[in-house]
Amino acid sequence: MKVGVIGCGNISSVYLRVAQRFPQIEVVALADLVLERAKERAEQFNIPKVYSVEELLADPEIEVVLNLTVPQVHAPLNKRALEAGKHVYCEKPFGVHREEAFEVLELARQKNFRVGCAPDTFLGAGIQTSLQLIREGAIGQLVGASAFMLSAGHESWHPDPEFYYKPGGGPMLDMGPYYITALVSLMGPVRRVAGISRITRPQRTITSQPKYGETIQVETPTHITGAVEFANGAIATVTMSFDVQAHRLPCIEIYGTEGTLQVPDPNGFGGQVWLRRAGDTDWQVVAHTHPYDEQYRSLGLAEMIQAIQQNRPHRASGALAYHVLDIMLAFNDSSALGAHISLESTCEQPEPMPKEGLGSE
Ligand SMILES: NC(=O)c1ccc[n+]([C@@H]2O[C@H](COP(=O)([O-])OP(=O)(O)OC[C@H]3O[C@@H](n4cnc5c(N)ncnc54)[C@H](O)[C@@H]3O)[C@@H](O)[C@H]2O)c1
Repeated sequence: MKVGVIGCGNISSVYLRVAQRFPQIEVVALADLVLERAKERAEQFNIPKVYSVEELLADPEIEVVLNLTVPQVHAPLNKRALEAGKHVYCEKPFGVHREEAFEVLELARQKNFRVGCAPDTFLGAGIQTSLQLIREGAIGQLVGASAFMLSAGHESWHPDPEFYYKPGGGPMLDMGPYYITALVSLMGPVRRVAGISRITRPQRTITSQPKYGETIQVETPTHITGAVEFANGAIATVTMSFDVQAHRLPCIEIYGTEGTLQVPDPNGFGGQVWLRRAGDTDWQVVAHTHPYDEQYRSLGLAEMIQAIQQNRPHRASGALAYHVLDIMLAFNDSSALGAHISLESTCEQPEPMPKEGLGSE
């Protein structure tokens, strides 16, 4: 299908490069608030049209909008794309607050257009292999999980890092989508959340170029820890931080009655899957059972387009992204309220990917 991209910043070059690998995606136009950025990318990737956002949305040739803007404008632009009669696939998070994200879901339902959302890394070899093992009963009944994303933040490398410290940013809404989406895809929907969070440094100094030396006012928690209870009764411990200089914790471990699974970094497609079953003397690496083990960002968009063409549900769906957003926001709500948050949202656990990938589905 013919795709128009809105937002030609940092991540757009990865999308535009990888999209060329999928026959489902034909990028025909680019737009950005800063027209120069769109022009630059269009030259780099040989894209025929450079537009303002209005022009892109008005072009009848464009069937799908790929929204790669910053979090604060994800939901407003998604709504505009749906109003303009286009399917939309968006970078994460699905919104900055629940209301705007829910409006996107509702609008898509009313207008009968698809809405999809990153991350799509859970469709890759690492997490799909882990899912296969869980489904085969390799670790028995699910008991719990751990998920840790601990870093020192983004102001040392990202050219424009301010948005990471505003509402819609922070480690939970920035990196949580990878971890929480992985957990939901592996273990199912979540029932309730308990969290505690803090802002460690109210001001942070940019040390990347070109904004070196500028101060960022931090307006969202930067160290968040808590627990989630899945609908099936399993419990996960989650910590997301931009305030940690070093650590030795795994990304994700899944605990079952018969064994433990170490899941690779959910901010990637491949990575090693480790299994240790009760009675084993050591961990074993499990060979990937599924394809997509390298940078495949845009796989979720390609899968959504194929789903439209095959008239079946798509996997990186708005409903999944909304449930993930609801879970992530519940950590801070719980911290502020001093109480567990019972979630109002839920979603279907996405179907496993076919072992042949999209090619022969
Ligand atoms: N940089 C990464 O490594 C990375 C990785 C994965 C996901 N993401 C996600 O991708 C999104 C974009 O991140 P980025 O790093 O590319 O940010 P960025 O700031 O480099 O790029 C965003 C672009 O969107 C444009 N934009 C902002 N508002 C707009 C509007 N209303 N209309 C049109 N264009 C608008 C900006 O001008 C900018 O060019 C974020 O949601 C981020 O979480 C980024």
